[in-house]
Amino acid sequence: HPPNFQEGGDVAINKANCRAKGGAPGFKVAILGAAGGIGQSLSLLLKINPLVSVLHLYDVVNTPGVTADVSHIDTGAVVRGFLGQGQLENALTGMDLVVIPAGVPRKPGMTRDDLFKINAGIVKTLCEGIAKSCPNAIVNLISNPVNSTVPIAAEVFKKAGTYDPKRLLGVTTLDVARANTFVAEVLGVDPREVDVPVVGGHAGVTILPLLSQVKPPSSFTAEETEYLTNRIQNGGTEVVEAKAGAGSATLSMAYAAAKFANSCLRGLKGEAGIVECAYVDSQVTELPFFAAKVRLGRGGAEEIYQLGPLNEYERIGLEKAKKELAGSIQKGVEFIKK
Ligand code: NAI
Repeated sequence: HPPNFQEGGDVAINKANCRAKGGAPGFKVAILGAAGGIGQSLSLLLKINPLVSVLHLYDVVNTPGVTADVSHIDTGAVVRGFLGQGQLENALTGMDLVVIPAGVPRKPGMTRDDLFKINAGIVKTLCEGIAKSCPNAIVNLISNPVNSTVPIAAEVFKKAGTYDPKRLLGVTTLDVARANTFVAEVLGVDPREVDVPVVGGHAGVTILPLLSQVKPPSSFTAEETEYLTNRIQNGGTEVVEAKAGAGSATLSMAYAAAKFANSCLRGLKGEAGIVECAYVDSQVTELPFFAAKVRLGRGGAEEIYQLGPLNEYERIGLEKAKKELAGSIQKGVEFIKK
C-alpha cells in the first residue's frame, strides 16, 4: 500500500491534527464510496477545498490507488485511505461531515427505485457505522433512490438513538444545477445568475422545479414550462441514456456534491445566510421527508423554508410528487422496521 495508507496514515493524521490545533481552520470529511464514478471526482474536489483539513476515502474496492493519486495534490487536506468494512470504523471516527455516494448507479431503462434492492442494504450498513463512530457528523446522502435511502438512514439512526433530523441531508443539488442550466439556456443568460428552487424529492415527478419563483424574476410560456419541467425531471435519465450502460451522472454529480458539502462546511463554520435545497425531515408538507430550501448552520439544516406561493401548474405537480414520495418513504421505513 502507498505511504498514506493504513500505518503511514497514522502519521498523516497526526500531522493534520497538529495543523488544525495550530489554528488552520478545517474540517474532517469522509467519502464513503470514494472509488466510484462520483466518489473519485468528489475526492479530487474536496481535496482542493480549503475548508477540508482531513479527507478520509473509504470504499470496498480500489481505495489504495485513489488515495495515492489524490494525496499528491499539493493542497492542505491530508488524505487517508480505507479499504473494506473492517476499516469503516477508522474511516469514520472523528469526522465532521460524511458524504455517501456508495452504491450501484442506473443503466438505461432503470428507474432509481430499481436500485433499492442493492443500495438500501449498503446505506443501512454505512449508517450503522456512522451511528457508532461519528454520531454527531453531518451526513450528505447521495446514493439512490434518495427518496427512500434518507428515510432508511433516519430509521437506522433512530434505532441507534443518535437521530438528529437537522444532520441528515439528501443531496438534490444536481437537480438545482440542471434547473439553473436549462432555465438559463431558455432565458439566454449566464447560469450563474439563475437560481431555481427545486423541491419535493429526487426522482421523476417528485422533482418539482418552482419556475414561478426563479431568480431573476422571469416568466415562461406554457410550452417553456412544460419543456423545462420535463427536462429537469428527466435530466438524470438523459445522462443514463447518453452513457448507454456505462453508468449515470458522475461529473456533474461530483460538482453538485462538492458544492453542497462546501455549503454544509461553511454552515458548520458559522457563516450566515447559507441556503441550499435538500431532501430532509420536514414539516413543510404532511410527508415526513421533503426537499425544500434549507438554511445551513453549525447544527446542519437549522431552518427549513416554506414552499411559498405556487401557481396552478406547480400545485398539480406537487400533488403528483407527494403521491409518489409517500410510497418511496414508506418503502424505506419498512425496510428497516421489518
Ligand atoms: P459507481 O458504481 O461508479 O460507484 C459506486 C461506488 O460505491 C463503487 O466504488 C463501489 O465499490 C462503492 N460501494 C459499493 N458498496 C459499498 C459499500 N458497502 N461501502 C462503500 N462503498 C461501496 O456509482 P456512481 O456513478 O458513483 O453512483 C453512486 C450512487 O450515486 C448511485 O446510487 C447513483 O444512483 C447515485 N447518484 C445520485 C445522484 C443524486 O443526485 N443524488 C446523482 C447521480 C448518482
